[in-house]
Amino acid sequence: MVYIVDKTIDDIQKIIEWLTSKHWWPFKNIEHEKLAVRELFSMDKITVLLIENNGRKVVVPLAISYEKPVITDYLRINDKYIFEAEYLRNYWEEVGRICNIKQYVKIRGRTSNVHLLTRESTHLIVAHELNTGDSIVIKGYRHISPISIEEKYYETILRSGYKYAPKPFVSINYQGIPIGIIIEYIDNVGDATTPFRKAFEEKIGKSSLKLGLAAKLGSQIAGLHLALNNTSNDFSGKDRISQEDIRGWGNRIQRRYKDALRLLEKLVDNADGKRKTIRYEKWLNHLDLLGQNVEQAISYLEAYIDSYKIRTHQDLHLLQILYGHDENFYFIDFEGEPGRTRDELLEKEPPLRDIAVMIRSFQYLSYELYMSKHKLTHIATSGRLLRNDPLWNWRMRHSLSMLLSYLSASINADLHGIPREIILTRYNSLLYPWLVDRGLYEIIYEATYNPDKIPIPLIGLVNPSIPINT
Ligand SMILES: Nc1ncnc2c1ncn2[C@@H]1O[C@H](COP(=O)(O)OP(=O)(O)O)[C@@H](O)[C@H]1O
Ligand SMILES: [Mg+2]
Repeated sequence: MVYIVDKTIDDIQKIIEWLTSKHWWPFKNIEHEKLAVRELFSMDKITVLLIENNGRKVVVPLAISYEKPVITDYLRINDKYIFEAEYLRNYWEEVGRICNIKQYVKIRGRTSNVHLLTRESTHLIVAHELNTGDSIVIKGYRHISPISIEEKYYETILRSGYKYAPKPFVSINYQGIPIGIIIEYIDNVGDATTPFRKAFEEKIGKSSLKLGLAAKLGSQIAGLHLALNNTSNDFSGKDRISQEDIRGWGNRIQRRYKDALRLLEKLVDNADGKRKTIRYEKWLNHLDLLGQNVEQAISYLEAYIDSYKIRTHQDLHLLQILYGHDENFYFIDFEGEPGRTRDELLEKEPPLRDIAVMIRSFQYLSYELYMSKHKLTHIATSGRLLRNDPLWNWRMRHSLSMLLSYLSASINADLHGIPREIILTRYNSLLYPWLVDRGLYEIIYEATYNPDKIPIPLIGLVNPSIPINT
């Protein structure tokens, strides 16, 4: 078997250099000598590398072939072509010779064409058009997460017969390491921001609202929650919330608040230039002033005692949903909230947490719409919106419409374990802890990857779309 052409260090270096240009490459500022590269397994046409640095692991299946691949993104070494193996025709058959393949639905047909679906992902996501006319999506996992739960979600969704998520075909793993999942291709016009954005950009005044569509989204989320919980086992189903759960969530919110403050302090300390220092100090000050709100949010968790926690999506924002040509929403990406530990990923939570995440997502969208409408930079946008958000009404009405429609569908299905009158009159304070929990998560995320966007969640925390009862 050929291992990376001639198995010389030179070749490995060439391959690593080529991999650094990939959108999913996580080791951007790390010297190549510090990467531990080893072969996970090797077979006829495929060699799978495991690349590691500081506990972070990435799996890279490489195809090594004499035949020119169908895509242009390849590396040529001597007379061989090297490319990411998910682009191989009938990849599932090749990789299935050595990997463990769990089949849910049989893939009918053979690859006739392959293309990359997105450069935004931390994985490799490619579509294979089949000779039957259907398309399938291969999500080739690059980052190894603490636990692979996506296949469990898809299994559950398939079993329930829920229509608004892709059908899974196979999941692939090697000795317990998830290598990929193959799912149905959803024919879409874009992610779920698309119809809302379009209405906002094309119309003025009242018709920029898509309240009916937000309501549809709410009822489809209820459908997703029901599908994920219509049987009871260690993964799905309703469980009663204990005092310990409430303490755990409270601790998480507190921890996130401290982490967010610490990250902002670090940004202030390391800022280059006075303008940046002043900017970060201002944001830190806003966050600092929210201490009491955070305590209040934690105290509201008490209302959940003895109600239900269920299997939720955890990261249910508008970019994790596709808007189909048939004008339905389709839910994807069931890897849980990024950055969570194994136990946190497995945790069940109150269904309203997903709704809070969606409300946060409408605020992200409103910020972006404002920014592009007025052709502003992030700094100018956040400067204005932190003082006053003219799109508050837009995001509040979409959020409320989605929420009420979600509630009417989910209350009837007994998904909350909270009396109807309480949930309908106190949804504000029930949602508040989760709006804060997610808002703080977003601050931490943006502070780590994109500090200019810190004000987006900050605006949401200062001025929530669903204000609390006073
Ligand atoms: N089943 C699918 N049908 C069509 N497009 C998909 C499908 N799954 C993923 N995609 C495309 O790939 C993108 C990223 O997929 P996702 O599962 O969210 O990966 P990530 O974990 O990187 O967020 C989606 O936003 C979408 O554009
Ligand atoms: Mg995603």
